[in-house]
Amino acid sequence: MDTIRTDCLVIGAGLAGCAYAHYASRLGLSVTLVCSDELSKGANSQWAQGGIIYDTSFNADQLKNDILEASDGTSNPDAVDSLVKNGQEAVQSLLLDELEVPFDREAGGELKYTREGGHSDRRIIFSKDLTGMAILSNMHDHVVGLDRVSVLTNTVAVDLLTLSHNSVDPQDKYKPLTCIGAYTLDTLTGDIRAIIAKKTILATGGLGQIFQNTTNQKGVVGHGISMAHRVGARVIDLEYIQFHPTVFLKKNCPLFLVSEAARGEGGVLVDAKGRQFMDTVHPMKSLAPRDIVARAIHQELISSGENCVFIDLSALSEDYIRERFPSIYRRCLECGVDITEEPIPVAPAAHYSCGGVFTDLCGRSSVKNLNAIGEAACTGLHGANRLASTSLLECLVSAKLSAESDCEDVGVDDFHLPNVREWESPSESADEVLIQQDMRLIKNTMWNYVGLIRSPRRLQRARRILIELDQEISDFYAGNRLTRSLIDLRNAVKTALLVVHAASLNTESKGSHYIATEAEDIDVPLAPVEDIK
Ligand code: SIN
Repeated sequence: MDTIRTDCLVIGAGLAGCAYAHYASRLGLSVTLVCSDELSKGANSQWAQGGIIYDTSFNADQLKNDILEASDGTSNPDAVDSLVKNGQEAVQSLLLDELEVPFDREAGGELKYTREGGHSDRRIIFSKDLTGMAILSNMHDHVVGLDRVSVLTNTVAVDLLTLSHNSVDPQDKYKPLTCIGAYTLDTLTGDIRAIIAKKTILATGGLGQIFQNTTNQKGVVGHGISMAHRVGARVIDLEYIQFHPTVFLKKNCPLFLVSEAARGEGGVLVDAKGRQFMDTVHPMKSLAPRDIVARAIHQELISSGENCVFIDLSALSEDYIRERFPSIYRRCLECGVDITEEPIPVAPAAHYSCGGVFTDLCGRSSVKNLNAIGEAACTGLHGANRLASTSLLECLVSAKLSAESDCEDVGVDDFHLPNVREWESPSESADEVLIQQDMRLIKNTMWNYVGLIRSPRRLQRARRILIELDQEISDFYAGNRLTRSLIDLRNAVKTALLVVHAASLNTESKGSHYIATEAEDIDVPLAPVEDIK
């Protein structure tokens, strides 16, 4: 088995992982950055549309208040303070000064600002409707040229290595629980490689693909959460899954996000008859926090029996729509909807995990030398519901603080990095049909029983189905040669079980976690959903 040794192993090459590689290499650490696809594919941050908060108004309290309000009063105030305190400098120095990301600007050169749900001010900078792409493509070009950073593409982490589980020295099992890297799979050759590291950083993103309808990229099934939990790390707040209210929904068309910025710029939510149903739901109407809008749409679909509501952009000129939202305009047109002339059909879909691997503000998990940053982590910043356009900012801030604290540790700590046991691989090939069918069952179960409206009975049913499936998948996993889809499946069922477990334990409806009572339960039908391709 091939082995690599490095200071920092970063798993995931979205914004958090790449930003960590940037900061750590600048501090003199060697970094191995693994990416499950080619660098330009796969990360959720790449597809972030709306933007990133860059609040130059110096009204920090107002921003903190918006984050807390959106979270239904549940965010961790220390995490909120840290984001607000460190965010502006990170955007300024890395994105604006160093990478020169092409954010939209006024004719005079000043940055343009937009607004999204739950924000009391226009404080979000953006690059048309492809902000993530603008940031990530610059970031990827930057990272591949950095000294001390080596990028391994088409490489998937299989399991974390710990002293207690994987060292060749049996005495190491008596040492405190300490992460020393990960086994990885080269998906092109099928080779397993051990990457041994002083610090291992999970930047694996969210878990949306455990749900039938999601804005997330293929394979985003909570890999970091599942791997961390397997070695004994604490995971928290996993019941708080944010459903984005407005995802394009039309039969035989792919699902895709329709940015909240479409409402921030004047679009309004209407039902099939053109009624602005959010007017009676919340004072911020179509721009209320996401959990409130998503549930209101769900309710609307249940009472109308329709499968979607609409975003009406008629207050905006045709030229403005095409100029401001070129990607949404093009993708809708490809599906036969000209958004300069007709409203956009939308419905909620799983979008963001507010919970994750528990960490302190520097990304340190409960396992020594294992960090988590970005969406994979949970500092409590988002509490029960995330404020729009905080996620890219969190990636930068958590990456920076984590790299700085790791650099301090590497300067002073003694690291015991023994050789690890050989990987034993069965020779049997997995049956892809079985894998696909199991994945479908997970996604359906999560969508129908653990979606926007949960109930004790539905959670119980989900749990039974998933426990049985987990057992099947564990046997299947043990008997077959590793492939990317098998790793996805194994982690997906684990993550799904963790979400169900968290949702079952928390009986209080807050933010994105809504539990119908036993009495309500009888009357809560599933929202009608098209059979989407
Ligand atoms: C959006 O553009 O609506 C999504 C942005 C986010 O999730 O923060």
